[in-house]
Amino acid sequence: MKDIIKLTDVYKRYNSGKPNEFLALKGVNLNVVEGELLGLIGVSGSGKSTILHIISCLDSYESGSCTYNGEELKELTEKQRNELRNKEISIIMQDMSLIPDDTVYKNVSIPLMFNKDVPYKDIKKKTLEAIKHVGLNDNHIKRKVTELSGGQKQRVAIAKALVSNPKVLLADEPTASLDKKSSNDIIELFKKINRDRGLTIVIVTHDPKVAEQCDRIIEISDGQIVEG
Ligand SMILES: Nc1ncnc2c1ncn2[C@@H]1O[C@H](COP(=O)(O)OP(=O)(O)OP(=O)(O)O)[C@@H](O)[C@H]1O
Ligand SMILES: [Mg+2]
Repeated sequence: MKDIIKLTDVYKRYNSGKPNEFLALKGVNLNVVEGELLGLIGVSGSGKSTILHIISCLDSYESGSCTYNGEELKELTEKQRNELRNKEISIIMQDMSLIPDDTVYKNVSIPLMFNKDVPYKDIKKKTLEAIKHVGLNDNHIKRKVTELSGGQKQRVAIAKALVSNPKVLLADEPTASLDKKSSNDIIELFKKINRDRGLTIVIVTHDPKVAEQCDRIIEISDGQIVEG
């Protein structure tokens, strides 16, 4: 089994040299195996989002190594990093980053507008496919995101992350604001996507019940991986 992502001794400091400097990651070692559904668990402030932001090239790291398919992220050009973000690694941010007053269709289609490999004529088909794939139906397509429930919004965020057909999906607290039923539905959806597409998925959560449903669990505490 191949490690698609590998972090070795990664340190991350926020606001370096300023009074509010904060060392968020203290030598993180972590691997993500291609095709697995990995749960990354830890309490609030332990560094979970920081790790996802580093893997998806949204943030840098101070020292150590972070590789995707063996390539050191720090050594990629800005253009290569953008390509990686647009085509290979999709992230669902903790706040979902949807545009509330735009429709479901518009939100899901946005990544395709930035993907030069997708011809304009294919955008509609791919967008509708992604919306259907996450269990939303025709009635939802033209609705504004503000008019949807928390679980439905989460599905829109997943459709938006899947529309470019990435290899890796990073989901930051995808069930945090959901009730038990919706939370289970979303986890089942992740399992299905993982099974059907062989997509590598990392789910960040503080909820052991969510983590338990993954193939493997890694725990982070105070910026370090808990061994064992
Ligand atoms: N931009 C920033 N500037 C300064 N400190 C930050 C910044 N972002 C995060 N931190 C700090 O780094 C630590 C790790 O933050 P991170 O967001 O990775 O935690 P988390 O595990 O995702 O927490 P949560 O479960 O609450 O989302 C926290 O103590 C946080 O306050
Ligand atoms: Mg977080």
